[in-house]
Amino acid sequence: MLEEILQIQSSFSSEIEDVDSLSKLTTLREKYLSRKRGLITLLMKELQNVPGGERRELGQSLNVLKAKVENAIEKREKELASLALDRRLEADRIDFTLPGNQRPLGHLHPLTQVRMEIEDIFASLGYSIEDGPEIETAYYNFEALNLPEHHPARDTQDTFYVSDSLLLRTHTSPIQIRTMEKQRPPLRIICPGRVYRRDNPDATHSPVFHQIEGLAVDTGITFRDFKGTLEYFLKRFFTEQTRVRFRPSYFGFTEPSAEIDISCVFCSGKGCRVCKMSGWIEVLGAGMVDPAVFSFVNYDPEEYAGFAFGLGIERFAMIKYSINNIQYFFENDVRFLEQF
Ligand code: PHE
Repeated sequence: MLEEILQIQSSFSSEIEDVDSLSKLTTLREKYLSRKRGLITLLMKELQNVPGGERRELGQSLNVLKAKVENAIEKREKELASLALDRRLEADRIDFTLPGNQRPLGHLHPLTQVRMEIEDIFASLGYSIEDGPEIETAYYNFEALNLPEHHPARDTQDTFYVSDSLLLRTHTSPIQIRTMEKQRPPLRIICPGRVYRRDNPDATHSPVFHQIEGLAVDTGITFRDFKGTLEYFLKRFFTEQTRVRFRPSYFGFTEPSAEIDISCVFCSGKGCRVCKMSGWIEVLGAGMVDPAVFSFVNYDPEEYAGFAFGLGIERFAMIKYSINNIQYFFENDVRFLEQF
C-alpha cells in the first residue's frame, strides 16, 4: 500500500501541473477525492483490511497525502481565478490618456448675451423689465408717442403694415405707453424686443433687429439724472475710458432730444474708417419725455418728469465685438456663433 500512496502522490504532482482550467481541476479533484471512486478515498477504505501494526503508519501517510492534495487543489483554484481576472482586466483595459469624445456644446446667441448684459446693468440701477406685442396698433407705435398722422417720422415707406391700423412695431417705444397706462410713477423700466423696418438688408441694416427701450419717470427727474444714468451705463458696458457726447436731435416723444455718441472704441477718438474719421460713434436716441406724451397716459406733466432712450442691440454687439456686418447675427453660421 505504501507503494500505491507514493505513486498517487507522484502522479498527482505531475497532473496538477497541467491543469489550466477550472473544469480540468474539477475532473482532477473527482479523480483523487470523489466520495465513491476517488483514488485516495478507495485507499482509505482499504485501510480497514490492513493489519493493525501497519495501519496506523499508513493511515497517517494517507492523511498527509490527502491534506497535500486538498491544499494543492485549493491553491491551484485560487491561481486560476486570479489568472482569469488578470485576463479579463487586460482585455477590458481602459486607456485614460485617450482623448474623449467632445460633444458640441451650445451657448447663448451673442445678441442674447449682450441683451442680458445690458439688462443686468439696468437691473443693478433698480430698473425692471417690461414687454409688449410685436404687432402693434398705429396708436401705440405712433399717435400716443406724439407722432400724429402725416408726421414725417411715420413715413409708410419705413413701416410694415399688417392692416390699416395694425403694423409691425418700428421701435420699442410703444412699450413706454403700454407700461405707463398700467402703472403709476415712480417708474424705471427697460423693454427689450424685436422691431421691424422696411430696410433692405446690407452690412448695417436688417428688416428685423432688436432694441432696448428705457424709461424713467418720477417727481423731480432732471436732465442731470438723464445724462448721469446714460454716461454710467455706457462706461460700464464699454469701458471706463469711454467718452460720451450728447448731440441735440429730434424725436416726437422727447423734448429736448439727444443723440448720444461714444468716443470711437476702434481708434479711441483719433479717427478711423469705422467712425468715418469723426472719432465718435452714435449709440443711442434719447431725451426728456415730452409732456405731450404724459397727457396720453394721464400723468400730470406738472408733477412728473422723465427721460427715455432707445438703443439697437445689434449695434452694441457690433461695436463691442468689432463685427462689421449685421447679417452675421441672423445667418446662424456656427463658425461665427462659436466665437462668443
Ligand atoms: N424709438 C427711437 C428710435 O427707434 C429711439 C428713442 C427712444 C428716442 C426713446 C428717444 C427716446 O429711433
